[in-house]
Amino acid sequence: MNRILVFTGKGGVGKTSVAAAHARHSALEGKKTLIVSTDMAHNLGDIFEIPLGKTIQQVSENLDVLEIDPNHVMAHDFQDMRRAMANLIGSIGVPDGQLDHLSVFPGMDELFSLLKIMDLHESGQYERIIVDCAPTGETLSLLKFPELLSWYMEKFFPVGKVAMRVLSPISRTVFKVQLPDREAMTDIEKMYVMLMKLQNLLKDRQTTSIRLVSMPEKMVVEETKRNYMYMNLYNFQVDGLYINRILPEDIDNPFFHEWLNIQHQYITELEEVFSEMPIYRIPWFDTDLNGLSGIDRIDREALNGRDVFALQEDLKGERYVKNEAGYLLSIFLPCVEKGEVHLHESGTDLIIKIGNFKRSIPLPASLRSHGVTSAKLDEKTLCVQFES
Ligand SMILES: Nc1ncnc2c1ncn2[C@@H]1O[C@H](COP(=O)(O)OP(=O)(O)OP(=O)(O)O)[C@@H](O)[C@H]1O
Ligand SMILES: [Mg+2]
Repeated sequence: MNRILVFTGKGGVGKTSVAAAHARHSALEGKKTLIVSTDMAHNLGDIFEIPLGKTIQQVSENLDVLEIDPNHVMAHDFQDMRRAMANLIGSIGVPDGQLDHLSVFPGMDELFSLLKIMDLHESGQYERIIVDCAPTGETLSLLKFPELLSWYMEKFFPVGKVAMRVLSPISRTVFKVQLPDREAMTDIEKMYVMLMKLQNLLKDRQTTSIRLVSMPEKMVVEETKRNYMYMNLYNFQVDGLYINRILPEDIDNPFFHEWLNIQHQYITELEEVFSEMPIYRIPWFDTDLNGLSGIDRIDREALNGRDVFALQEDLKGERYVKNEAGYLLSIFLPCVEKGEVHLHESGTDLIIKIGNFKRSIPLPASLRSHGVTSAKLDEKTLCVQFES
C-alpha cells in the first residue's frame, strides 16, 4: 500500500529535518520515495544540497524532491479546476484576470498543493510520499480546506445530483467516490468530486497519516497537544510523535541541570499523552543539521532499527455504530476538557466547536431525522448518541 506521511509541528522544531530523514530512510529501504514541501519558505534544496526548480528532481537512488509552487501547479496541471474556480469566484464578483494570483481566495494555495500530491499519489510512481509542511496553523488549514470548501459548495452551488451520489453512505470515510461520466459533469461538479476524492485520500487511514514533531519545553508541548486534538477533531490519523532536541544526560555543566529537569518533565508528559502511538526521541546534536550528513544522523540515532512506516491499525478514528439506543457517533478527542467542547445541530450538520475551530460534520442522510439525545466526553472520546 502506498503511503503519504505529513510532518507538522510548531515553527522551528525540526519538521523539515525529520521529514528529510524519513525520505532518506525510505529510499535506503529500496522504496521509491518523493519528498515534497508545501511550505512557501522552502528549504529542501539546502538540505539536499542541490538547486531545485518547479519540477520534480532526483537527488539520489529512489529519492526525488519537489518544492511545490501552487501558482505553477494551478497553471500547468489544473486548468479545469482553475476554470471552475473562475466560475465560482466570478459569481461573487472577482474579475477573472486577478485569478492568476491565488491569494485572492484564502486557502487556494494549499488546495492546489494538495491536488498535486493527490495526482502524484494516483500516478502510482511513488511508494511513499513524505510531505514537509509549514508550521501547525497553516497545516491544519491546509488539511481541512477541502472539507470546508466542499461544505460551502454543497450549500451554495448546484452540485445536487453528484453530491447525492457521493454522500449517501453512512460514513464519508468509507465511501469510494465513483466518478460519474466526466463529460456529463459541469466544471463545478468536477471540482466538487475532486474535493471529495481529496478528502477521501487525506482521511484514508491506510494511506495518509500525520506525524507530529515536538520539543520537550512548555510552549511547544502545549501546542503539540492542541495540534493533536485538532487533527483528531477533523478525523486525521496521527500515528507518530518525534521529541526533538533532547539534551544528553551526561552534560557536566550546572547551567544545564535545570534544563535537564524541565526536559524530563515534558518528555514524561508527551509519553503519557501519546502513549497510543510510536514515539521517537531525537538527541540535540552538537551542531545544526544542514546537509545530508546532518539528517543522516537523525536516521542513525532515532529511526534506525524501527519500522517507521508501519501502519498503526489500532488507532481510533471517527465512527458510527448502531446500538440499543439508536446510533452512536464516536470521535477520538484527546487533550481537551469537557467545558471546551460545544456541540449543536444545524440543519443537516452536527457542529463541534472547540476554541477557535469549528467543524461541521454533515450527517449521513439516514441520521438526519434522528435527534441527538446525549453527548459526553469519556476516555478521550466524544460520544454523540442519536435516537433510533
Ligand atoms: N536535533 C537537532 N540538533 C541540532 N540542530 C537541530 C536539531 N533539529 C533541528 N535542528 C536545526 O534547527 C533548525 C530548524 O530545523 P528545521 O528547519 O528542520 O525545522 P522546521 O520545523 O522545519 O522549521 P520551519 O518551521 O522554519 O520550517 C535547523 O537549523 C536544523 O539544522
Ligand atoms: Mg521547515
